[in-house]
Amino acid sequence: MVSGLSLLSILLVAQAAFAYNFAYESIQLTDLNVGNNPDLAFGNASTGDIPSCKSYPGYEGWPSSTQWSALNMSLGGTLLKGIPPAAACYEGEYRDTAKCSNVRRRQSDALFAKEDPLVPFGQWTLHNPCPVPAASATPPLSGCKLVSFPAFVVNATTVKDVQLAVNFARNNNIRLTIKNTGHDFLGRNTGGGALQVWVHRMKAFEYLPTYKVGQYSGQAARVGAALEQQEVYDAMSTYGITLLAPGSSTVGAYGGYMQGGGFSYITSKYGLMADQVLALELVTADGRFVHADPMENADLFFAIRGGGPGNFGIVTSAIVKAYPPTTVARSDFTFQTGPVSSNDKTTVRVSNETFWKGMKVYFSHNLRINDAKGIMSNYITTTARTFTLSNQITKPGVTVEEMRRLMAPLIKDLNDVGISLVNPEPKFWSTYAKFGTMPGGPSGGTSNSRLVSRLVPRSNFADPTSQTFNTTMAAIRSFMEEGGYSFHSVDYAPTLETAGYPGSDSAVSPHLRNAVMHMTGFDSRQYDASLSDELWKSSHARLDSYVQKLRDATPLSGAYMNEADVAEPNFQYSMYGDNYDRLLKIKKERDPWGLFYVVTGVGSESWFVEGTGGLPTQQGRLCRVDA
Ligand SMILES: Cc1cc2nc3c(=O)[nH]c(=O)nc-3n(C[C@H](O)[C@H](O)[C@H](O)COP(=O)(O)OP(=O)(O)OC[C@H]3O[C@@H](n4cnc5c(N)ncnc54)[C@H](O)[C@@H]3O)c2cc1C
Ligand SMILES: *[C@@H]1O[C@H](CO)[C@@H](O)[C@H](O)[C@H]1NC(C)=O
Ligand SMILES: *[C@@H]1O[C@H](CO)[C@@H](O)[C@H](O)[C@H]1NC(C)=O
Ligand SMILES: *[C@@H]1O[C@H](CO)[C@@H](O)[C@H](O)[C@H]1NC(C)=O
Ligand SMILES: *[C@@H]1O[C@H](CO)[C@@H](O)[C@H](O)[C@H]1NC(C)=O
Ligand SMILES: *[C@@H]1O[C@H](CO)[C@@H](O)[C@H](O)[C@H]1NC(C)=O
Repeated sequence: MVSGLSLLSILLVAQAAFAYNFAYESIQLTDLNVGNNPDLAFGNASTGDIPSCKSYPGYEGWPSSTQWSALNMSLGGTLLKGIPPAAACYEGEYRDTAKCSNVRRRQSDALFAKEDPLVPFGQWTLHNPCPVPAASATPPLSGCKLVSFPAFVVNATTVKDVQLAVNFARNNNIRLTIKNTGHDFLGRNTGGGALQVWVHRMKAFEYLPTYKVGQYSGQAARVGAALEQQEVYDAMSTYGITLLAPGSSTVGAYGGYMQGGGFSYITSKYGLMADQVLALELVTADGRFVHADPMENADLFFAIRGGGPGNFGIVTSAIVKAYPPTTVARSDFTFQTGPVSSNDKTTVRVSNETFWKGMKVYFSHNLRINDAKGIMSNYITTTARTFTLSNQITKPGVTVEEMRRLMAPLIKDLNDVGISLVNPEPKFWSTYAKFGTMPGGPSGGTSNSRLVSRLVPRSNFADPTSQTFNTTMAAIRSFMEEGGYSFHSVDYAPTLETAGYPGSDSAVSPHLRNAVMHMTGFDSRQYDASLSDELWKSSHARLDSYVQKLRDATPLSGAYMNEADVAEPNFQYSMYGDNYDRLLKIKKERDPWGLFYVVTGVGSESWFVEGTGGLPTQQGRLCRVDA
């Protein structure tokens, strides 16, 4: 006989234990599965201790092949060895002529890295340990450093797989890394000698016509953690809804993108991806599968939304806001100092002097466009001493006529300084879902580029006649004219007001909340295998000296962590702002083992990677700074 109260608590426990979004989350690790196997035991955060270095292949304490085989058995035989496809081009046991030609053909295909369990897009992040042979080289080559890659990969298809990986890594003091699509720019998705959890199969979608949590009541969707932009657009067309989505087709919508903030072409109106999240399912560092929302595990719910990818847990699914369909319009134009081939009047040629005047005029409209819930996206490129400004202004919820009116004052001001553009005929889509099916398809293969980011606050644009505005423009000009770098900015305003509930109470960086411009610049030099460490360092120092001018013009701001320089100075303040201390406290409580280490992550200052010669790469053993 059970009392009413304990019956209620049994029901509550049962509900909590069985709360999940998708069938793949119903398969969980049980105490029965764990048995007496110390490798698989759950953790207890109050007894967590931190050894001085993580285990690494070849070092004492690395699990025996028997232990790895046992893990493989627990996983049902799906454990993969960390062998990069390019190993097929090298001498040794993985040499395979057919595979090697396949790798050489496909390396710059966007789907190549995305569909590989191991390969990150940013090849430099592992210091190019096993580069695909150059066109001129004749395989087999020698010197593929397998040890620099994650040692094993769990091809996770269930929550149980994730729990097994987390427990095995924590109990054996192994570095754990997480790969979703592999797009990360900083190397947060890879690490030498790691056990990598590949979450790429966790794809599922369910539309919820009504969903209530806390103060939210409305349309929503259950989403698998691995859905990519294109799949989110597909769901939008199927269900006749609007969801936020990243700007490129193969970027994961609910992995690193969401956890670092995540901006979209409709962000000035709908907020960041982190602002869309209503509830999360995740595996924490102790190996437990938990639910987080504004009421339950509120610390994790706060931290994961904007507090940095791969830092607090492995997300398996989420519930996100959905909206009614919206129209989208976009107006494009270009002015440049080089010759123009088209004669459609949306591309015009101007003198140097007029070009720089035009740039100031263009950015003087930033606040007006942002306040109208539009987004400016631009590339200012420099080639052979000519300069080009290519603009796209995008706005959801408008008609073609409204878009023309939004553009008119900008076109007039450009005309007034001698840039004879006509108001471009807006491109128009009846839904955001259709906007997402623009031709082009996946682009971008593996790369060796490094980039920098700076968030420019609203106050820098408040008065286009001010010294602050002029200094900001001068820094951008110097970046291109003296630095010779190309400049890219996406000018959006993810304010607290736009974030709404529960988005406004999250770990999204206050710098993002105040920003109306996210600038990025790519180093013109490739950080490939042929670059010496000295050139690597000097090239980066040069790039940094030019972004420093932007930093000086925005002293109280920071960088957007998902597109930032891995060597960003004072990354804690720059990437997390005043949230850092609170996040560090949550990190210490939830992950005292430092299991979820990622470079530039919360608490990452306590660790360093051995043997990188001072480069911010991830190929070596992970050790504690103070040990
Ligand atoms: C071509 C391109 C276009 C981009 N466009 C945009 C854009 O429009 N807007 C924008 O804001 N950013 C954009 N980005 C940057 C993007 O936000 C980051 O690259 C981001 O890290 C990608 O996340 P991912 O999960 O797809 O990639 P991954 O490299 O697989 O993962 C990145 C990080 O997230 C962690 N992670 C991934 N999945 C999980 C999970 N389920 N649980 C816990 N941790 C996880 C990993 O540990 C890793 O640290 C773009 C990047 C590229 C390369
Ligand atoms: C964790 O360890 C603490 C301290 O030893 C102990 O009091 C607590 O009961 C343990 N919790 C679990 C869930 O085992
Ligand atoms: C895991 O087991 C499967 C099935 O026995 C095997 O094919 C695979 O090679 C094993 N993985 C590793 C890393 O040994
Ligand atoms: C990963 O798992 C999926 C689903 O079981 C399977 O289709 C795929 O082949 C696996 N990938 C590799 C590289 O083994
Ligand atoms: C325009 O600027 C570039 C780069 O500063 C310079 O090389 C070029 O000579 C200038 N052209 C004219 C016509 O002044
Ligand atoms: C900023 O530059 C403009 C010219 O673009 C100039 O008219 C204005 O006086 C400058 N403002 C200050 C404070 O120097």
